[in-house]
Amino acid sequence: MPFIIERNDITRMNVDAIVNAANSTLLGGGGVDGAIHRAAGPGLVEECRGLGGCETGKAKATGAYRLNARYVIHTVGPVWLGGAYGEENYLRSCYFNSLSLADKLGCGSVAFPLISAGAYGYPRREALSIATETIKAFLEDHDMTVYLVIFDKRSFELGGELLGEIRTYVDDNYVGMHSEKQTYLKARRKHALGSMACDYSVPNAIPAAALCESEAICADAAYKDEDIGDIIKGLDEGFSKTLLKLIDASGMTDAQCYKRANIDRKLFSKIRSDPDYRPSKPTVIAFAVALRLDLEQTEDLLKRAGFALSHSYKFDVIIEYFISKRIFDIYKINEALFELDQQLLGS
Ligand code: APR
Repeated sequence: MPFIIERNDITRMNVDAIVNAANSTLLGGGGVDGAIHRAAGPGLVEECRGLGGCETGKAKATGAYRLNARYVIHTVGPVWLGGAYGEENYLRSCYFNSLSLADKLGCGSVAFPLISAGAYGYPRREALSIATETIKAFLEDHDMTVYLVIFDKRSFELGGELLGEIRTYVDDNYVGMHSEKQTYLKARRKHALGSMACDYSVPNAIPAAALCESEAICADAAYKDEDIGDIIKGLDEGFSKTLLKLIDASGMTDAQCYKRANIDRKLFSKIRSDPDYRPSKPTVIAFAVALRLDLEQTEDLLKRAGFALSHSYKFDVIIEYFISKRIFDIYKINEALFELDQQLLGS
């Protein structure tokens, strides 16, 4: 998974480079800067003394000393002054310059804190978006694993409206919260159904009417020039072969698809070379999102790997929300999954 959001203390990460949210002196401070210097030991500040400080937005590397890393990349985020002083560009530069330096040093994995979102007062929601967008853009043409390490949940705020909608959808559909009977009754109310039988002996039976709404939303999901539904229906191959045909039909290159799915090149090579490859459920769903499949098409792709979506799992209900709303940005979906303490999408 090229981009991972993780709850952790960055000093515990085992990566090639740990990024420090430093100040321009590079001689240590509080917050994550203080934590990194404490964990690395006195050698770090000694080396920093010789760097002559660092400008806002720039990045400089040192050894990592007692940390589980090869390098510490020190970058200086902008102090939030209201947004009219170039803060956004400086913050983007912090991520881009740190990633470029890590790449130049031959790092395969890098861990970032949420730069400027602490003492420097950058609004957390915007700080998160800038981090995600800049990392995502960099990973379009670089093979690297990038961790965004969230130390405390407070510093991770998903947009209130989106989170509210997801929580409502989960409440309405996640059977772990209430019986399926209530789900059915809610669907009846919503669709003024006649006497539609719904077999409650079948676990996770989602009333067809409840699906019709999401199918209606997804109706335009099929690729314009080729009915993806026919491609899927016409295939009786397993997951791997079906996926490769869907990628061809989508017009994307393999790399465009697996990067959009937050899948690393190594895993994709395994899937491509082994017709019987057994992927994990998040991997299948990640490709369904990358291919912009609708709910029915996603279910079919899952079935070919031996899985199904179920209202008994919050993770599945959240995925169903995004697919039925046709939100296919895997980074946005992973932010929501992270916020709701669920497994992330990707390899
Ligand atoms: N691991 C990961 N993230 C951490 C850790 C940790 N051990 N400690 C703090 N954080 C998080 C904070 O929760 C925040 O979301 O790092 C983010 C950045 O917060 P700060 O460390 O305050 O950094 P910043 O806002 O960029 O301010 C930099 O603070 O520490 C001083 O010397 C530093 O002057 C500089 C200023």
